[in-house]
This record gives sequence, structure tokens and C-alpha cells, in this order.
Amino acid sequence: MTASPSATAPAVHVRGLSKTYGRVQAVRDLDLDVARGEIFAILGPNGAGKSTTIEILEGHRKRDSGRVSVLGEDPADAGRSWRARIGIVLQETSDFGVLTVSETVGMFAKCYGEQRSRVPDELLELVGLASSSGTRVRNLSGGQRRRLDVALGIIAQPELLFLDEPTTGFDPEARRQFWDLIRLLASDGTTILLTTHYLEEAAALADRVAVVAAGRVAAVDSPAQLTAHVNTAATVRWLEDGRWRVEHTDHPTEFIRQRSADGTELAQLTVTRPTLEDAYLQLIGVA
Ligand SMILES: Nc1ncnc2c1ncn2[C@@H]1O[C@H](COP(=O)(O)OP(=O)(O)OP(=O)(O)O)[C@@H](O)[C@H]1O
Ligand SMILES: [Mg+2]
Repeated sequence: MTASPSATAPAVHVRGLSKTYGRVQAVRDLDLDVARGEIFAILGPNGAGKSTTIEILEGHRKRDSGRVSVLGEDPADAGRSWRARIGIVLQETSDFGVLTVSETVGMFAKCYGEQRSRVPDELLELVGLASSSGTRVRNLSGGQRRRLDVALGIIAQPELLFLDEPTTGFDPEARRQFWDLIRLLASDGTTILLTTHYLEEAAALADRVAVVAAGRVAAVDSPAQLTAHVNTAATVRWLEDGRWRVEHTDHPTEFIRQRSADGTELAQLTVTRPTLEDAYLQLIGVA
């Protein structure tokens, strides 16, 4: 049997996406490609256009212009069968305050029907909420609440899961546990597209990262390769006649060799390369 085109299409393919709110241009001529099976992060500061972009991909927001394909279909006019293939975790969570965790999951499972839905108890086990199943949603901690959001996002076993700022406000321990959950879902074959303003999160989780600033993609690469997109000159620092001397150079070894050729000792010599954080700050235009 030949797979239908939408089953083999890239997870996300975007060209020239733009969106304006009144006079604010939130997204400007943005291109994006996410492959099946990837964990892909859109990383950028507040107001960069991350939510606007992801909401357009989810079919929750209209675009002004550009081409968008998600799992082979245009989200602007895709139907129920397409919607069933994606999972969504919004930046703002909805309020199910008086229900318990298991009542909430049960209610969603019923909506999807037994055939498509995961078994609620197994789902709560998977997201680490089994011991909180009787807790009212309003009494969950922030981290537990986000796990419930993910549970609801993956209840119908989506091919592609959107997560908008999933760990904002988490303590470091909760964040690490949440990353493990995302990795687990990815290892099962779910494509993950997440937004974050934590560089550390993008670096720890994502196969590839799009750095977005002021509605544009400043760079797309693996976390390890992002530094290659900015000025990567090394900084050579040493102490001479009681004063710190600093040199920025692409060839630090050669510089040091020449500088010490006459036998001069370069006291307290250090050579540093830009870190991923330096690269990120340069890319978003703050450094
Ligand atoms: N509904 C709206 N009406 C008017 N302006 C909006 C609306 N939504 C977003 N904006 C503006 O568009 C720009 C991009 O916002 P967006 O929410 O997409 O950014 P973001 O990267 O998700 O930011 P954050 O990290 O704070 O969530 C911002 O300047 C924002 O103020
Ligand atoms: Mg946002």
C-alpha cells in the first residue's frame, strides 16, 4: 500500500509567513522546516513572535501571507482528521479547577472515543501524574499542571505535538523531569515543536533550534552549531606590566606565538571562545 502524501510530508514546511496586529508586525517573512521525528525548538525573547507562529501552525490564528503546510495540509482549512493528528499545549492553560485530574482526563478520553484515545490510567502513568489522579486540578503545582496539559495534548496519540513555553516558571528539578517526559514522547516517534525563551532548554532538548527575534528567524541549526552563525573570534587575555591586555582574534595560537616569540612570558594567559549564550545574545541583537 502506498502511503498518502500527507503521511510522508514533512512535519512543518513554512515559507514567507507574515502576520501583523494593527501596527505591530509580529512575524516577518519567516521560513521554517521541521522533519518527522525531530524535537525542534523556536527560541526567542518575549514578543519575538513565537506564539503567533505556533498558533498559525496549529490552525488557531490566521496569517496575513505566506505558505504553511503542517503534516501535508494547510492549517487554515484543514479538517477534523488533520486536527486529530496534532496535539496542542497552549501557553495559557484552560481552567478545569473543580474537576480532579482523572475526571479531566476521563472527560477528554470520552470526547475522542475509546479507539483513538489512550487509556487514562496509562496516560497518567506516562506523564507522571498517577499519584495525583484524585487531586483537583486547581490544587496541582505548576509543574504538575503542565504535565496535565501534556497529557491532554497527547491523549489522542498525535503525530506532532506543539508545546508553547511548556516549562516557564518551573524550578530546575521540575524542568529536568519535564524534559525527560518530552524525550520519552520523542523516542516513541512523536515530532515535537516547542517554543521557549530558555536557551538552556533549547540546548538540552532540541535536535535543531530556530532563533527568532522581532518576528524573523536569525539562525537555524543544532545547538552545537549555533555559535557558527555569529562572530566567533577568540578573546586572548593576559597581564602585562600590571595591566590586563585583551586581543580579539580568529587565530589565537598564531597570535600567542608571535607575541611570545622573543621569550616574553604572557602572565595569566587565557583564551576564550564565545559560548552558546554569547551567540544567542548576538543573534537576538542584545550583544
Ligand atoms: N492578539 C494580539 N493583538 C495585538 N498584538 C499582539 C497580539 N498577540 C501578540 N501581539 C504582539 O505581537 C508580538 C509577538 O507576540 P507573540 O505573543 O507572538 O510573542 P512571543 O514570542 O510568544 O512572546 P512571549 O515569549 O512573551 O510569549 C508582540 O509584540 C505582541 O505584543
Ligand atoms: Mg508566547
